[in-house]
Amino acid sequence: MKDTLTIFDTTLRDGEQSPGASMTQEEKLRLARQLERMRVDVIEAGFPAASQGDFEAVSAIAANIRESTVCGLARATESDITRAGEAIAAAARRRVHTFIATSPIHMEKKLRMSPEQVVEQAVKAIGWARKFTDDVEFSAEDAGRSEIDFLVRIFDAVIQAGATTLNVPDTVGYNVPAQYAATLRTLIERVPNADKVIWSVHCHNDLGLAVANSLAAVIVGARQVECTINGLGERAGNASLEEVVMAVRTRSDIFPVQTRIDTTQIVPASRLVSQITGYPVQPNKAIVGANAFAHESGIHQDGVLKHRETYEIMRAEDVGWGANKLVLGKHSGRTAFRARLEELGIAIGSGEQFDAAFASFKTLADKKHEIFDEDLHALMSDETVTPATEHYRLNDAHFHSGSNETPQADVTLTIGGQAFSATATGSGPVDAAFKAIESIATSRSELLLYSVNAITTGTDAQGEVTVRLSRDGRIVNGQGADTDIVIASAKAYLNALNKLHSGSERVNPQV
Ligand code: KIV
Ligand code: ZN
Repeated sequence: MKDTLTIFDTTLRDGEQSPGASMTQEEKLRLARQLERMRVDVIEAGFPAASQGDFEAVSAIAANIRESTVCGLARATESDITRAGEAIAAAARRRVHTFIATSPIHMEKKLRMSPEQVVEQAVKAIGWARKFTDDVEFSAEDAGRSEIDFLVRIFDAVIQAGATTLNVPDTVGYNVPAQYAATLRTLIERVPNADKVIWSVHCHNDLGLAVANSLAAVIVGARQVECTINGLGERAGNASLEEVVMAVRTRSDIFPVQTRIDTTQIVPASRLVSQITGYPVQPNKAIVGANAFAHESGIHQDGVLKHRETYEIMRAEDVGWGANKLVLGKHSGRTAFRARLEELGIAIGSGEQFDAAFASFKTLADKKHEIFDEDLHALMSDETVTPATEHYRLNDAHFHSGSNETPQADVTLTIGGQAFSATATGSGPVDAAFKAIESIATSRSELLLYSVNAITTGTDAQGEVTVRLSRDGRIVNGQGADTDIVIASAKAYLNALNKLHSGSERVNPQV
């Protein structure tokens, strides 16, 4: 029997620290459900002390997730830890993750604390956290640039205080695999009672080494990897969950561990993260990029057709590619629609919310005869802006454009229940639509990002648009999907305006 490698997903915390990767509470909950479906062991749901919004999001995840451990991050202060402990209280399995910096530069310049004070604070922090749960993780922030003797000392002290998982973050992505593995090996050898705790790794990707460093540490004894979907995260990101999991599985001859992850849920999780954050996945990204399993050269194609393993070390279907199967069509009824949503883990109430979603499904099925899972995900993310929170609504839109015509948009919106119309011209129909909307909404927001992706293949595919807006230091992502990409763009713009209006905004815990 191999040891289990605990997969600790921090997409909802470190991942959300990517510039502009804002998520609303509903989006965080949707992603948490997908992580649970994927059988992630620990979901780091957020940083509850950072803001009321983060506290509420972590609480909602704790109340809804039953299988995965729900973890809240806290600095090593009593107030932070109390917030984290309260936020995760409803979880079936809960963890407090507390951290303090241990590198000379962080202790001296950032914390302005002596090493003795840092050890004392860390020990107190474990005591505060243990009041809320027996599952307490301690991170020595910037361990990658910390002195090994000091790490041994602080980890010894926190084990004695009751920490159960010890994390060794390479916070600034400075380490290289041999060095990082040596640090883990030394800690496991020198820290008393090292065999009574789980050693964890948390690597950032500044030198493109996050996955390599994490895996090198697993070989010498780390038994938890902290990672994110699509490698999202602060600056260059964190170790990518899909790469860690598939490396361990594909090279089971090298790694003495196995994970519990349902790998077929990897591609759906990747798509969901990309859709929510507006961060596209580069086509050549390992495992989840559109080309990860595509063979272009004739020699490769010939080889794969003769014997798949000539050029493929993994099967696309094992990571969830090809799940793009036809599920519903225009003759599908309410029961089939509800059943498929449930299978996809999309929570839908009854009554008005369900009726509205079903009506949108029928409209889409009239335009696009084959409805795939991806279409349902997009449809439902449109539907999650319930009428109560939808201040701006698109009533009607007409667009005119042609090779010898100035593009023009005529738009009618309802704002707070009252209808307003405007006409605008632009460099293209999308530009004209945004100008028309803006002339009505006068939001004074700045457009930071506009991106379009086809959800499925074929010219009848829905276009999925992300619009990122900023106003007064707040950043929101709006999404919209439609078979008409100008309509999808208008919906995405209004979705972003609704988020600005409702106050759901990106919270960067480290600000
Ligand atoms: O990178 C880091 O050090 C962190 C800690 C809070 C674990 O994200
Ligand atoms: Zn980090």
